[in-house]
Order: sequence, then structure tokens, then C-alpha cells
Amino acid sequence: MDRLQREYPWTKVPLVACGPMRLIALSKLASEVSKAGGLGFIGAGSDVTTLASELDNVRSSQTESRVLADVKDVLPVGVGFLLWAGDQLMNDALPLLEKYKPAAVWLFAPTQSDQLERWATETRRVTQGKTKIWVQIGTVADAVEATKSCQPDVLVVQGSDAGGHGLDKCAGLVSLLPEVDDAVAAVCAEQDIKKPSLVGAGGIVEGRGGAAALMLGASGIVMGTRYLAAHEANIPKGYINAVLEASDGGVTTERGKLYDTLRGTTDWPLRYGGRGVLNESHRDAASGMSFEENKRLYEDALTRGDGGWGEKARLTTYAGTGVGLVKEVKSAAAITEEVREDAKRVIRHVSSGL
Ligand SMILES: Cc1cc2nc3c(=O)[nH]c(=O)nc-3n(C[C@H](O)[C@H](O)[C@H](O)COP(=O)(O)O)c2cc1C
Repeated sequence: MDRLQREYPWTKVPLVACGPMRLIALSKLASEVSKAGGLGFIGAGSDVTTLASELDNVRSSQTESRVLADVKDVLPVGVGFLLWAGDQLMNDALPLLEKYKPAAVWLFAPTQSDQLERWATETRRVTQGKTKIWVQIGTVADAVEATKSCQPDVLVVQGSDAGGHGLDKCAGLVSLLPEVDDAVAAVCAEQDIKKPSLVGAGGIVEGRGGAAALMLGASGIVMGTRYLAAHEANIPKGYINAVLEASDGGVTTERGKLYDTLRGTTDWPLRYGGRGVLNESHRDAASGMSFEENKRLYEDALTRGDGGWGEKARLTTYAGTGVGLVKEVKSAAAITEEVREDAKRVIRHVSSGL
């Protein structure tokens, strides 16, 4: 049995997870992904204000699920944290981790060299090792450093195509995943430590991308952009429509810092930017509009409801280069099952012709 299925026994092979998208991936989405044999992550982000009630929701909905009702040791979802928020976030999170014991924490974007180690040690201590440690990285060096410092259970290898925040300088999954795999295997052998499982993230939207990530060395896959168009995502209609309308994401999306500045989310470490669908805010910024004017227009767009999103509008539409493959809104369960089964079908099909 695959290690991931041993650690999350309700999940099916290959493991399909939804990324912990702050404000968007809440208990509804995360629970449905897990009920479909995947692992749903709630995006706590940089604070835990609503986390207890989200975790309570998961607990209540768990009893109605045939798949999850027997899971007793852990709460069958994960929680994602943005480590740049600092020590207060960890201090606030630990009592909740101790109480609810989510199946995993997902740690992203540390700013201090000992942060991953402290989060991992403390999480393992308060949950008696029940909550597994996932760390999202985007370079080979970060993968090696994270492996040495906190011996994660899972490394989420995030390639440059990913929607939302990621490293400004980062390779695509096709080269990143195998190089991370080799480098991490070498360091684990050298230091005699357990090799983390790898999961791929960034540009995976359907079965073919999922199959590719598995062929590159991943044991599971993470999707963010695809789950934006899940019925259970907490997302405005205008945002979804902008994602459904976008295609050719290498040209129509871009990673940058414009939206962090327009929205005032400027605590991100310098080497990270957010990838989103290009719109009037970008075009105006590129053609020299002052930041003050761009921000004024952005604030105005916030009052326009769903009309504030779109290629000809202004609001933030974080999404990855895979947008062009997102064609319809479906249930999170349908997305999870479809990508998992299609990925297996693609692999069977390819190997049958070899
Ligand atoms: C709208 C959006 C918000 C995101 N927010 C977070 C977040 O709060 N924390 C995090 O670790 N990753 C976040 N991500 C990144 C995802 O965890 C994941 O790495 C990414 O979505 C994978 O690439 P894909 O979008 O091509 O599927 C976000 C992604 C999107 C699209």
C-alpha cells in the first residue's frame, strides 16, 4: 500500500488534494474533497479567527459520510498556514491543532530559518504525531533545506504554473519534480532520514496533468485552480466566470505583486508573487497609470459586485496557467474522482502501447 494511503486511510490512489486557498478553500470544499477519497485542505492563511468553526463544520459533516465516519484518530482534512505571519500564528494555531488533530498541516512561505522546524516539532508534540507535516516548496534548495530542517512527511512541489502565490523564480513541474526527487533522495540517504512523499502542484487541472506529475515522481497531486470552479468553493460568481472565460494561461495569466499592493496584502516575503488572470488593473499599471489612481479604480470595482471581475474589469482573479482547461463548474467530488480516474486511465493507456 502506498504510504499516503496508509497515513490517510480513506484516500484512494493516487492521492488528490485541494490546495489550502485562503478565504476560498473552507470546510465545505475541504470536506467534499476528503469524502471523495481525496484530502481537502482548509486555507487558514495568516490567522485562525474562523478556524475553530470551520473545523467544527468538518466534524459535523464527517458523521454523514460513509467514507469518513470511521476515521477516528484525526480530523480528515488538512489546514494550510502562511508562515510569514510569524510566531503569533503558531501560538494561536497550536491549541486548535491539539484539539482537532487535522490529518495534516501545510506550511508555506517561512521567513525565518528555524520556523519550519519549530512548527513541525510543536505540531508533532501537541498532536502526538497524528497531524502530518506537509511543506510547500518551489526550488530544489528549499526542498533540501526543508527536508533537513523538519523531515516533513510530504513535500508539495509547486511549479511555476501554479495559481495564487508562489516563487517569482521557479521552474515548471516537468523539470522541478524529478530534480527535487533526486536531491531529496540523496540528502535522505546521506543523513539516514525518511524520504518525504512528494506531491505535485502547479498547472494540474485534469487527468493528463495528474498522470504527468505521477510519472515525474509524485505520489499524489494538488490542485488549486481547478477547485476554484467547484460548487463548494467560497468564491464570487464574477471570479468564477473570469476563470471560465480565460484561456491560453501562459499569456493571459501572470505572476506579480500588483494585487498584493492594490489589496494591501504586502506581508508576503519579497521572492513570492501571485499568479492571476490579466485584466485592466495590469494593463493600466503597465501603461504607466499611477498607483493611487489604479487603487482608486480598484476600490471602485469592489463596489460593482460580480461585474468587478473579468478581463475587461479590475478585481484580483488569482488562477494558474491551467485556466484554459477549466471549462465548467462541478462538485468537488466530481472533480476529485474525475482527475484521479482519468490520471490512471492515461497511465494505463500509455503503458499499454509501450
Ligand atoms: C486562488 C488561490 C489561492 C491560493 N491560496 C493559497 C494559500 O493561501 N496558501 C497556500 O499555501 N497556497 C495557496 N495557493 C496555492 C495552492 O496551494 C497550490 O499550490 C496551487 O493552486 C497549485 O497550482 P494550480 O493553481 O495550478 O492548481 C492558492 C492558489 C490559488 C489559485
